[in-house]
Amino acid sequence: MAIAEDLEVASFLKQQPKKLFIGGRWVESASGKTFETIDPSSGQVLAKVAEGDVEDIDRAVAAARKAHESGVWRELPPAERAKMLWKVGDLIEERAQEFAQLDSLDNGKPINEMLLFDVPMSAATFRYYAGWATKLDGATQQTSFPGKYLSYTLREPVGVVGQIIPWNFPLMMAAWKVAPALACGNTVVLKPSEETPLSALLLAEIMQEAEIPDGVFNVVPGFGETAGARLAAHPDVDKIAFTGSTEVGKLIAKAAADSNLKRVSLELGGKSPNIVFSDANLRRATSSAFLGNFYNQGQMCSAGSRLFVQNDVYDKTLDELTKIVEQTRLGPGIDPMTQMGPLVSRKQMERVLGYISVGTKEGARLVAGGKKPEGLDSGFFVTPTVFADVDGKMRIAQEEIFGPVLAAIPFSSEEDLIAKANDTMYGLVAGVWTNDVKRAHRVAHALKAGAVYVNCYNVLDPATPWGGFKQSGWGRELGAYALDLYTEVKNVIVDIG
Ligand code: NAI
Ligand code: MG
Repeated sequence: MAIAEDLEVASFLKQQPKKLFIGGRWVESASGKTFETIDPSSGQVLAKVAEGDVEDIDRAVAAARKAHESGVWRELPPAERAKMLWKVGDLIEERAQEFAQLDSLDNGKPINEMLLFDVPMSAATFRYYAGWATKLDGATQQTSFPGKYLSYTLREPVGVVGQIIPWNFPLMMAAWKVAPALACGNTVVLKPSEETPLSALLLAEIMQEAEIPDGVFNVVPGFGETAGARLAAHPDVDKIAFTGSTEVGKLIAKAAADSNLKRVSLELGGKSPNIVFSDANLRRATSSAFLGNFYNQGQMCSAGSRLFVQNDVYDKTLDELTKIVEQTRLGPGIDPMTQMGPLVSRKQMERVLGYISVGTKEGARLVAGGKKPEGLDSGFFVTPTVFADVDGKMRIAQEEIFGPVLAAIPFSSEEDLIAKANDTMYGLVAGVWTNDVKRAHRVAHALKAGAVYVNCYNVLDPATPWGGFKQSGWGRELGAYALDLYTEVKNVIVDIG
């Protein structure tokens, strides 16, 4: 594909094939193989990338182990680690345009969303965890025999951390994983998604510029079944962190158990309920319901893909929502006028179109979208789609579609609602819209979800925890909770009697 000269990221894209980043050096894959990453708005090749496989993961893990054991990172004064991580945040901000253009081209997402959300959130995440590097305190325990035994705890890095991330927020997912791991003194091997490997490599350039020591941060792009599987099964990786499908999450847990029982954290799928009671501010609830499901082309683990609306405001809410949906401007993400881009890949587009025909066959009422838009034939576009009168047992109400498809479900009472809202294998987030403060808290308590938004949706902050109940995952990322994922607690007991 011809790279537009006026793009700030043009010079990065021109150096092809992109290499792996291992031990502070840019290297080819051991096999010499490369793979292509695609611009989903055109279906054309965006870049060729060195294809990491077992041998490359092994090299990267060895580099990360060497850096860990040498102490260049974990024994650095915490304020030095903090300074470098803060610098990473600064450099992400400085190169905001490049990151925005890169993920927009590689993933398809609207560039304005990159500039307003993904990039600032990624920089903020590095800064937030820079602050924690100097605050990894332990505690003293009051023992049963205080005059005899003194007990105190230390938080130590887990060691070499493998991180496997998805394609939906390529830079931001890297930031959420890498920042807390490095703040806690670990070394990292990052495997980005084969669909969107580029921004992780630009992040590696930044790590070099921030003078993060060699081997502390390594990036090995490659496929899940090869490079990803090796990282999860590697005997010398102490912890694996994964975001992606529940199906692959289970494989990761198995691989960890069957190898060295490495620590595992999983951020998996969702089928989140967004709930509108009739006493809510309907205008705000409706526009938020739109963004809560269709932002990022609906490719969000936290998508509010089940919209529950109380009977007496159901028709009105659905009409308003349909109007917003139908006005959405589709186009290539790199065009600043675009409100919704293509899906990430042909595979994802076909999956979503498949679910749309499942919904129709199941008897749900299609009220908007449901097809490929006209005039955008070469890209992987699907029009934003709304199904009404969905029954909670239908596949479109139970399975994660990961695309611009919303299932609207009417409900009568609060009691009826709670049972329906909790009726999936997932439990990532939920939204509640009501002006009744008692009801808001009551429903928030009754929902099985890792985050409940009251009169808002998908508000993300590096300071607040993120993760799921049930099959939405294990552990909590972000906030102080992520420190538990990236440290081991050591209890030191001293005989002082
Ligand atoms: P995926 O779960 O296969 O991919 C996520 C990451 O895992 C990628 O880096 C991939 O290379 C890696 N991976 C795949 N197989 C692996 C294995 N056997 N061992 C180790 N790593 C492996 O997701 P995919 O195929 O891209 O999308 C399929 C569906 O998964 C989506 O339609 C969506 O429903 C769900 N998904 C959910 C995400 C979330 O944030 N909850 C993110 C991405 C996908
Ligand atoms: Mg791509």
